[in-house]
Amino acid sequence: MRGRALVTGGAGFIGSHVCDAYLADGWEVTALDDLSAGKRENVPRGASFAHLDIRSPELCDLLLEGQFDVVNHHAAQVDVRVSVARPREDASINVDGFLNVLEASRQAGVARVVYISSGGVVYGEADDLPVEETREKGPLSPYGVSKLTGEHYLYYYRVVHGMTSVSLRYANVFGPRQDPHGEAGVVAIFARRALRGQQLIVYGDGEQTRDYVYVKDVAQANVLAATLELPGLGSLDDFAFNVGTGRETSVNELARRTAEVSGRELDVKREPARPGELLRSALDVRKLRAAGWSPAFSLEEGLAETYAWVAESEGVESEGAA
Ligand SMILES: NC(=O)c1ccc[n+]([C@@H]2O[C@H](COP(=O)([O-])OP(=O)(O)OC[C@H]3O[C@@H](n4cnc5c(N)ncnc54)[C@H](O)[C@@H]3O)[C@@H](O)[C@H]2O)c1
Repeated sequence: MRGRALVTGGAGFIGSHVCDAYLADGWEVTALDDLSAGKRENVPRGASFAHLDIRSPELCDLLLEGQFDVVNHHAAQVDVRVSVARPREDASINVDGFLNVLEASRQAGVARVVYISSGGVVYGEADDLPVEETREKGPLSPYGVSKLTGEHYLYYYRVVHGMTSVSLRYANVFGPRQDPHGEAGVVAIFARRALRGQQLIVYGDGEQTRDYVYVKDVAQANVLAATLELPGLGSLDDFAFNVGTGRETSVNELARRTAEVSGRELDVKREPARPGELLRSALDVRKLRAAGWSPAFSLEEGLAETYAWVAESEGVESEGAA
């Protein structure tokens, strides 16, 4: 056994893949989730499950009893629009809830906390891409503020309490088990619509770009983050790693590739651009690559697996290239 890992948000989209990857790497895994968005069936059979809110006072008992080597924190309010509509709800989960996880980890003497931040929202709009970890921060949503705040708390716990931690700043993650409402929901939406032979809806000119990274590659970054050698002390960014591909993909290209993997002719319907939408985004991932991470999936391979999963979960035999 490599050690004991607690994955918060472990019944969610990315967290459940992280549970899979930790199990495959020889860790004993407990998934924690309040099932507000996650599903019990996402948790792999080899993992234990704790049905708990991260804000709950019982969290400390769980950590004291569990003697975890790594706490991997994926549980969160994940919707930018919800954070804009209800910023206090966002902060309650993403700031207050995370502080509860940190305090419990400190009291239980957890060796390492792996925290999930977001490269798509902490940097704000940038002209020259891809964005390096040291780029000036400028979150433009309550969700971005709460994610960056978590990194500042980690800095405090590191310097003052000697807690070892890593922040992973994800690009737009996609893959099986994704709910269409998350940050990279467009892949899940396109895959479902393609399966039904429906039009793909593109907002604006479709030339807005994102950095789409496949969830199994992201899960491997979490495996690396659990044991990665880290500097003694340093700045916030010294302990942060972008997780993406470094490559921009436009919505138009995504629509084209979705049609390819589905093996169907799909119409594209144009709708007016959505106000406030980031125009371009891509993360520089040289730092994580230098630390030993190398993504195994191309965009095409990831899309093909995602499409096959959507087809299977909807009980349809996939006709596509998957
Ligand atoms: N999907 C992306 O592209 C992306 C990009 C950047 C960062 N992230 C981050 O990755 C993490 C996972 O996101 P995801 O896309 O898998 O979303 P998700 O909604 O599938 O996962 C979040 C999980 O947290 C659980 N949760 C929410 N509030 C909770 C609470 N109070 N207590 C316990 N559990 C709670 C939910 O039930 C869900 O299972 C989040 O921290 C998110 O901010 C995701």
